[in-house]
Amino acid sequence: PAPGWVTRADVVVVGSGIAGLTAALRIDAADPSLRVLVVTKDVLNAGSTQWAQGGIAAALGPGDTPEQHERDTLVAGAGACDVEAVHALVTEGPDAVHELIALGTQFDHHPDGELSLTREGGHHRDRIAHAGGDATGAEIQRALIAAVERSPEIEVIQHALAVDLLRSADGGVAGLTLHVLGEGQRDGVGAVHCRAVVLASGGLGQVFSQSTNPSVSTGDGMALAMRAGARLRDLEFVQFHPTVMWLGPDSQGQQPLISEAVRGEGAFLVDWEGQRFMQGEHELADLAPRDVVAKAITRRMIETGQPHMWLDARHLGADFWARRFPTILKVCREHGVDPVTELIPVAPAQHYASGGVATDLWGRSSVPGLYATGEVACSGVHGANRLASNSLLEGLVFSRRIAEVLPGELRPWADPVADERPAWLVSGRRRRTLQDTMTARAGVLRTQDGLAEALAVLAELGAEEAAPGVDTWETSNLLTISTALAQAALVRTETRGSHWREDHPDRDDSRAGHIDSWLDEDGRV
Ligand code: SIN
Repeated sequence: PAPGWVTRADVVVVGSGIAGLTAALRIDAADPSLRVLVVTKDVLNAGSTQWAQGGIAAALGPGDTPEQHERDTLVAGAGACDVEAVHALVTEGPDAVHELIALGTQFDHHPDGELSLTREGGHHRDRIAHAGGDATGAEIQRALIAAVERSPEIEVIQHALAVDLLRSADGGVAGLTLHVLGEGQRDGVGAVHCRAVVLASGGLGQVFSQSTNPSVSTGDGMALAMRAGARLRDLEFVQFHPTVMWLGPDSQGQQPLISEAVRGEGAFLVDWEGQRFMQGEHELADLAPRDVVAKAITRRMIETGQPHMWLDARHLGADFWARRFPTILKVCREHGVDPVTELIPVAPAQHYASGGVATDLWGRSSVPGLYATGEVACSGVHGANRLASNSLLEGLVFSRRIAEVLPGELRPWADPVADERPAWLVSGRRRRTLQDTMTARAGVLRTQDGLAEALAVLAELGAEEAAPGVDTWETSNLLTISTALAQAALVRTETRGSHWREDHPDRDDSRAGHIDSWLDEDGRV
């Protein structure tokens, strides 16, 4: 649509979680003369960062080293990580966390003043820093927002959906169109002319019926990047968190996470007979990498015909629960379960997109001037299965890296050229069908027939016309990303990490390469 207003900024950062706000702060610090604009679809703290419970992983504890963190990350990634990217993550991680502390983030400490570190699935050391017990993301988000508020030169537009990239004649970034809902003079569809865009818009959880992600996670940044000609990578690697509170068969949308840190502190899974079932599955038992745990729970659910399994954390006791996991305790009680005296019903639900916009070690996408960081990106650190608590760290480390190179490689101002590719839109009314189809056919357990059926349903949804609007744009983005994801899952005829093909149950290293996704001339996946 034609923009109703136009503004200018040197750099536009899309998204306001740990990745977006770190990028904005660091670019501003690197070159204060640059005009940095942050746009975010809802309010500043509405994204996934705010919901992160467990914490942020880094080799900070006595006896731990980046090499050990690297080893655990590569094992969880099941042979699909980019080793150089993982190396950057783990070696720069400790410094990056210290910088968060310097910025004002209040992590939990022991009485002797040492940082309190816990363990989660796949980690062989206690290396997860946490805050407020189980409210780590909220504390990091608070500190970052406060830092942005102390930086008046960083401009923020809230309630702004990034619609499409504007490109110059050479195909590189020239700007961005936005749909803003009620921000003064900038209401409606507008354009920002700029020299670089940093995508930090988070994941795609709303592709599925149940997710731990908030409602804003509709894959907008990934779809926007694809429409601009960028390559996406590893979309089939969707992580399902093993212990999401089960709220009943009809519960849709964002579901309550029961952090892996609860198992890190001694909780364990049991079936309907009260039997523990993780001990024979992996040397780390209940703390195995999360794909292993999610698969074991799903298998038990299929074998027993039950809709969920149980988490037993009663022995942690009332005081420990209140001190260490106050948020989870409150949420469980709000849903009628007291974890101090009762088992918690849990089942896997979508949690994290390990794939996304393919980037190099400095966050550059395949489109000149377009960078990506955090969950929207595929930097290569997660491979086929992200190690717990590496996601906040990824946003932090790679946003710092982008800020190191971006000011020195800014493109000259360029006029946007018209995009000749046909645009197509899907009505928001089709979202539920899309989500249910993806959950049933492209969820935890996948087969060739199921994925082919999913693609047929998605193709039908795409044939319908719809009027522009935020719901329509989000649903169209979900459709683009669902189609790319289902296609990638169909092409990967092996089981690896979080990608589980029932008809190809083994890992096949002859198929170990990456699967890229892009749009053709007609704007189709
Ligand atoms: C959790 O707290 O279990 C989630 C941590 C993560 O996804 O990294």
